[in-house]
Amino acid sequence: MKKLLVTGGAGFIGANFVHYWLSKYPEDNVVVLDALTYAGNLENLAVVQNNENFSFVKGDICDQALVETLLIDHQVDTLVHFAAESHVDRSITGPDAFIETNILGTYSLLKAAKKCWLDDRDKPFEHRFHHVSTDEVYGTLSASDPAFTEDTAYAPNSPYSASKAASDHLVRAYHHTYGLNVTTSNCSNNYGPYHFPEKLIPLVITNILHNKSLPIYGDGMQIRDWLYVEDHAYGIDLVLNKGRIGENYNIGGNNEWANINIVKEVCALVETRFAESSELATRFPEALAAIEANTESLITYVTDRLGHDRRYAIDATKTRVELGYEPKETFETGIAKTVSWYLDNEAWWKAVMDGSYQDWVEGQYS
Ligand code: NAD
Ligand code: TYD
Repeated sequence: MKKLLVTGGAGFIGANFVHYWLSKYPEDNVVVLDALTYAGNLENLAVVQNNENFSFVKGDICDQALVETLLIDHQVDTLVHFAAESHVDRSITGPDAFIETNILGTYSLLKAAKKCWLDDRDKPFEHRFHHVSTDEVYGTLSASDPAFTEDTAYAPNSPYSASKAASDHLVRAYHHTYGLNVTTSNCSNNYGPYHFPEKLIPLVITNILHNKSLPIYGDGMQIRDWLYVEDHAYGIDLVLNKGRIGENYNIGGNNEWANINIVKEVCALVETRFAESSELATRFPEALAAIEANTESLITYVTDRLGHDRRYAIDATKTRVELGYEPKETFETGIAKTVSWYLDNEAWWKAVMDGSYQDWVEGQYS
């Protein structure tokens, strides 16, 4: 039985991980620590809020004293660290929060873990610090380059990926220098339920329903390697249970798509759903699909992102061979579930899209 502290558990991947974990390991205890920034939403945890093995604490990972109290009071033996500023576009316009949360926040967690799990113990204590990182730390690939392996040199290009790379190095250093039991996973782009609608896939779905343009940065031929979010949770599960201490594990779906093709795929799926169910035209009368017009006509090419990485691709051979990892969802099944989830959960995305997010988006495109 594990006692987990999950940082950033009210965000997209963290919340999906908490759902996954409590359903697979109902005896385990899960405490979520989350600052509830614009990206964190307690609604994401509504399905587990009455579970007696779940608790939520609003707080900042930079608050080392708070983290130490949680580690001791809840007898935490496993820390799974998702909390981060995660949106590349925001890191370009405002890097400070990324340095603060992603670098200093991770450093604060490492100091708390070292103190509570190593320094203040008379006897060795079984523990794990799992750090959730990204493939973006490896930089960018050309069309013909081989996919990233765990041995690919770090070459981050955005303030976001640079801050994640810095945190990865700190985690590594706390293992090598102090003997903290760490693992790190580097995952490709996730998609699925509870994805904040500033990221490509949920932005496209929600814009289609509101008859808003679908902004494609540059030529739209940038490539990302998409993984259904539950398959990320499953990969972390395997790393926690079978991974070797001090190691990095790549997690990916072997599923490369050019952005423009993802957007066209989502347009087609939404049109199919509208054709299958007349109720959707009543609920979303603004959508072009409601009048059987061409959804792809909303595609609008806009100025490219600064320093935009051309291609990411994950080689997850090590994770497959050592841990037996295989994604369970194909892209076809995963994207179909995702589109259905957004159509069925209008109240969720409407709620997260008001307030600060809206202000920020308007600032971007005005
Ligand atoms: P997200 O932005 O949806 O959620 C981040 C969560 O962290 C939010 O709930 C937010 O409130 C919380 N948070 C932010 N600052 C905090 C602080 N100082 N203290 C406590 N909580 C704080 O992000 P996500 O997409 O779920 O990503 C989770 C992790 O996975 C991140 O570390 C990210 O780098 C990594 N990752 C994401 C992807 C992806 O495709 N989204 C891919 C690979 C790795
Ligand atoms: P995003 O979802 O922001 O993830 P990341 O930058 O971490 O890969 O973007 C995915 C890809 O989609 C990326 O190449 C940028 C591109 N993109 C657009 O073309 N238009 C958009 O409106 C957004 C949000 C992203």
